[in-house]
Amino acid sequence: MSNIIHTEGLSKKYGSLMALSPLNLDLKQGEILGYLGPNGAGKTVTIRLLLGLIKPTAGRAEIFGLDSRKDLVSIHKRTSYVPGETALWPSLTGMETIELLGNLHGSYDTSYRDKLIKRFAFEPDKKIRTLSKGNRQKVSIISAFMTRPELLILDEPTSGLDPLMEQAFRETVLEAKKNGQTVFLSSHILDEVEALCDRVAILRTGKLVEVGTLSEMRHLSALSVEATFAGQPPKVDTIKGVTNAKITGHQLTCQIQGPIDELLAVLSAAKPKSLLSREPTLEELFLSLYGETEKTLRS
Ligand SMILES: Nc1ncnc2c1ncn2[C@@H]1O[C@H](COP(=O)(O)OP(=O)(O)OP(=O)(O)O)[C@@H](O)[C@H]1O
Ligand SMILES: [Mg+2]
Repeated sequence: MSNIIHTEGLSKKYGSLMALSPLNLDLKQGEILGYLGPNGAGKTVTIRLLLGLIKPTAGRAEIFGLDSRKDLVSIHKRTSYVPGETALWPSLTGMETIELLGNLHGSYDTSYRDKLIKRFAFEPDKKIRTLSKGNRQKVSIISAFMTRPELLILDEPTSGLDPLMEQAFRETVLEAKKNGQTVFLSSHILDEVEALCDRVAILRTGKLVEVGTLSEMRHLSALSVEATFAGQPPKVDTIKGVTNAKITGHQLTCQIQGPIDELLAVLSAAKPKSLLSREPTLEELFLSLYGETEKTLRS
């Protein structure tokens, strides 16, 4: 399958601040990429570079094989963008705004528009200036999806949405995926990323720290193990790969990286009453990466 997004050494400097260090990233057709990072990591800068709205200090971005700076108009016809904070015309109604945005984009599917308005329980006749933040956000989301673009670039699209609307958003993204559309999703909502994304990229102070599927990332990280025993728990801290071993009364907790057979043998010889092991959640992976200074999970 062809690349919808391709970047080569894409970077941006503001004075002495490296807002984005040379980024090489590919996104294939039909993929949903979660783009994560703490505040100020460079997510919005990346999105502005992809959309050709700012000039890279070095490197380049290609969207649909076209140059993001030179072929801006052709790219934007096939792309929808939802910014985190939307500036809309205050005196227009929601529907007028949706229609205006749709017409700016070209054609759109009115029956899908109406379906989305219903799904997001949006009241189209109210003026934009009277809408809450979440309801204004719905205008951007509905307008972005109703044109069924080949590429959706979403910058924290659900900030301000309530949990019901968050569900409506997920349903809409999965519909887009089924339709073969490609989604670049910057988000702080880890559940959302876990539920929707095929791959996750994690950015930290402008540098890509990790990129891969969630299961690939989980393999790189430690498994958490928790066991309780009738008597004294066994000693496991000398077993290869075991870290953070802690005994509290009859309970043992630890983490293990790599093969688990030796640990399991020691635990089962001590006849555990209960045994629980689980892979790290995206939140744990994310926090462990954020906590790191120079090294990545791989090193
Ligand atoms: N126009 C600008 N001039 C100077 N510095 C800028 C400019 N735009 C962004 N930056 C800096 O670039 C860095 C990355 O900012 P960016 O907005 O991409 O962060 P982000 O990952 O989107 O954060 P958030 O999660 O808060 O939205 C920040 O340090 C920011 O201050
Ligand atoms: Mg941002």
